[in-house]
Amino acid sequence: MSRRILVAVAWPYASGSRHLGHLAGAYLPADIFARYQRLAGNQVLMVSGSDVHGTPITVRADQEGVEPQVIVDRYHAEFLRDWETLGISWDLYTSTGTPNHYEVTQEVFMRLLENGYLEKRTSSQFYDPEADRFLPDRYVQGTCPHCGYGEARGDQCDNCGRTLDPIDLIDPVSKISGATPVERDTEHYFLLLSRLEEPLREWLETKTTWRRHVRNWALGMVNEGLPDRAITRDLEWGVPLPVDDLGPGKRIYVWFDAVIGYLSASKEWAASSGDPDAWRLWWEDPEAESYYFVGKDNIPFHTVIWPAMLMGYGDLNLPTDVPANQYVTFGSKKASASRGVGRSIGWYASRLEPDALRYALASVLPEHQDTDLSDEEIIRRVNEELVATWGNLVNRVLTMSHRNFDGVVPTPGELDPEDEEVERLATLVLERTAEAIEKVELRAGLRVAMEAASEVNAYLNATEPWRLLKTDRERAATVLWTAIQAIAGIRVALHPYLPHTSAVVGEMLGLGGEVGEWSAPGVPGGQPLGEIVPLFAKLDETVLDD
Ligand code: MF3
Ligand code: ZN
Repeated sequence: MSRRILVAVAWPYASGSRHLGHLAGAYLPADIFARYQRLAGNQVLMVSGSDVHGTPITVRADQEGVEPQVIVDRYHAEFLRDWETLGISWDLYTSTGTPNHYEVTQEVFMRLLENGYLEKRTSSQFYDPEADRFLPDRYVQGTCPHCGYGEARGDQCDNCGRTLDPIDLIDPVSKISGATPVERDTEHYFLLLSRLEEPLREWLETKTTWRRHVRNWALGMVNEGLPDRAITRDLEWGVPLPVDDLGPGKRIYVWFDAVIGYLSASKEWAASSGDPDAWRLWWEDPEAESYYFVGKDNIPFHTVIWPAMLMGYGDLNLPTDVPANQYVTFGSKKASASRGVGRSIGWYASRLEPDALRYALASVLPEHQDTDLSDEEIIRRVNEELVATWGNLVNRVLTMSHRNFDGVVPTPGELDPEDEEVERLATLVLERTAEAIEKVELRAGLRVAMEAASEVNAYLNATEPWRLLKTDRERAATVLWTAIQAIAGIRVALHPYLPHTSAVVGEMLGLGGEVGEWSAPGVPGGQPLGEIVPLFAKLDETVLDD
């Protein structure tokens, strides 16, 4: 039975380069999961886009003295290059700056208003008396009232992850003038989260298979009590309100519009596929599944706020799972775009082959706890694991076969039990990797595939086909044929992680570059092999020294 699976991926702010923490936190795991599900025969819709609104963009524009659109265009173009280089296989990567997204956002706003989940209220916001303007979200910095972190931003504390209102900050400072902000009344629309607290709690209680840190965070947030939250801002940059009773100078809050991106992008994809109603198959059919790939700081918005909006809207699927990752740290400092720790994705992608970078990150995905990464660790993982285990296996088996058997797959004689065991690895590795990926244990899935490659290496070291070639040619043929069967299976298991080199291995095996399905193809004796080329280059120790 083919399943329909929405792979929803966090929308990166087009406010600066993204770094390896983002790649490991959301885009790479989503891509691995989506690639696997497609091969497993499921109908995947993988969407995201650039998040172009809010104070992350305007603060940057102010700093550079340019229009926000200049910033947005620059980084949106950069992200598109990153995805292309790394092979992130979106069905649609769009942006929140499209007319379609504005329309869908306004429609969701109106429906929530009609259903009684939005209410207009007067609230007190920070105002910069020197710059003569309101200071939403990241325009204010101060001390976190929850954990005491001194550099908390007005929208969220980077240290404890709690979502904030600038007005809660202790010792607040305006980012524009450095002045101490004053409070001023202003009118905004509020999302009545308090009305949805009970249904949210009940729904979250059922999510027993979610990652523990994700579920605990979400339930903790609901159990602390959900304050109603303003979903509009005193800002000129963002989606305009579909009602005019707040007056000018107000826009929809970036987080309210960004999460709606999953829905608007699905509609955009459907429209361009020629069937404008096709999005419904992923959003309205209760059998359809949805997986939201996000980093730790996005957990509140995807496990509480977006589900609340969906509940208030009605008739659309709630997330099946939110396999959020923890942080990647570099020398124990969190990688953060807004604080500039860690270099950009593009920087690494220009120095490493895409699959080498994918491998190094996939092997340290912070699925359950923060995980430290360093340039030395990336190089070590690539050289000692990827090159030494998988690259070496493929190259020695295929080179030996090609050279000694006229460029074709050797034809085996009778199989020994040890051969049969290695041949069985071809299907076993696919079963085991699939089991891990289905649970979104992607790191474990990679380990299983690499262990299979190690087993084949051990088999070669025990049987020594390079010696058999001189003493028992038929036995050498059997061993090489057997190893080739295993390689053909492992190559499929590794495809979600290493799509570029998986294509190369396919060409070398004479199977073609595409992987059609999640099964071991079986490579018959006598089948012509392609040209044998090295799969990976061993990295020079200095490749990541600036
Ligand atoms: N732009 C946000 C960030 O970079 C993520 C938005 S995810 C979505 O942290 F929910 F808005 F889609
Ligand atoms: Zn804090």
